Amino acid sequence: MSSIGSNRAHWNRISRGYQAEHDTQIGAAPRLWGMFSIPDAQLEALGDVTGRRVLELGSGAGQWSGSLAADGATVVAFDLSEAQLAAAAARAGRPGAGGFSRVQGAAEQLPFRSASFDVVLCDHGGLSWAPPRVAVPEAARVLRAGGRLVFTVASPWLEVCYDDAADAVTTELRRDYFGLGAVDEGDGAASYQLGYGDWVRTLRGAGLIIDDLIEARPDPARASGYAVFEPPDWARRWPAEMLWIARKP
Ligand SMILES: C[S@@+](CC[C@H](N)C(=O)[O-])C[C@H]1O[C@@H](n2cnc3c(N)ncnc32)[C@H](O)[C@@H]1O
Repeated sequence: MSSIGSNRAHWNRISRGYQAEHDTQIGAAPRLWGMFSIPDAQLEALGDVTGRRVLELGSGAGQWSGSLAADGATVVAFDLSEAQLAAAAARAGRPGAGGFSRVQGAAEQLPFRSASFDVVLCDHGGLSWAPPRVAVPEAARVLRAGGRLVFTVASPWLEVCYDDAADAVTTELRRDYFGLGAVDEGDGAASYQLGYGDWVRTLRGAGLIIDDLIEARPDPARASGYAVFEPPDWARRWPAEMLWIARKP
């Protein structure tokens, strides 16, 4: 069953609180990846976007969109939630953020012509909150030949070690690896996870070439504003996130 309606309602409901809690960290500097806000300059995932047409898939408040627009890209911030897009609208053109357009819709069915973007970027956005087997082929469709899909999602390690009751990431295997799929986010909302082999098959099945999988290791001083990690240095011992870089031939 589709989670589009429930995910939209979920993000509309939590948007204000989520931004109050996380916007300062996500937008603390340009181009920060993931839960630990690791600079792109350190990971070297994205590179120069000057003059590129970029789609941010599940843009939230558009922290990435504003940064890339300021760097000379033409950016579309795309999101399912009107509340999140309203937060993005408030950011566009603010000091440090370039102007960017905003489009509402679902990653499952993108309202864009094929081959219309040079880069599709996603940081825990549409590829975490829509079934990847549906959303990845859509992202691939809207990329032009030579275009890149660059995205962060939680790692299967994090997912299988997550203790729902304690709301913390632990060192115990709590969930089966095989059969990872929809993760219940409450109120009928769902996020999605795949095992490593399924990610590879999903990306390749969409006609993409995988250039890299970066398993970022946060510096000891870099804390996550999202999950509780027990022990606190968990993400220095196991990869909490995956940063995939794929290309359309
Ligand atoms: C965790 S936020 C990611 C945005 C930003 N990078 C951040 O970290 O806050 C997840 C975003 O995905 C959006 N989203 C959820 N389901 C979606 C879908 N099916 N298609 C597109 N966006 C979706 C939500 O509205 C939300 O803004």
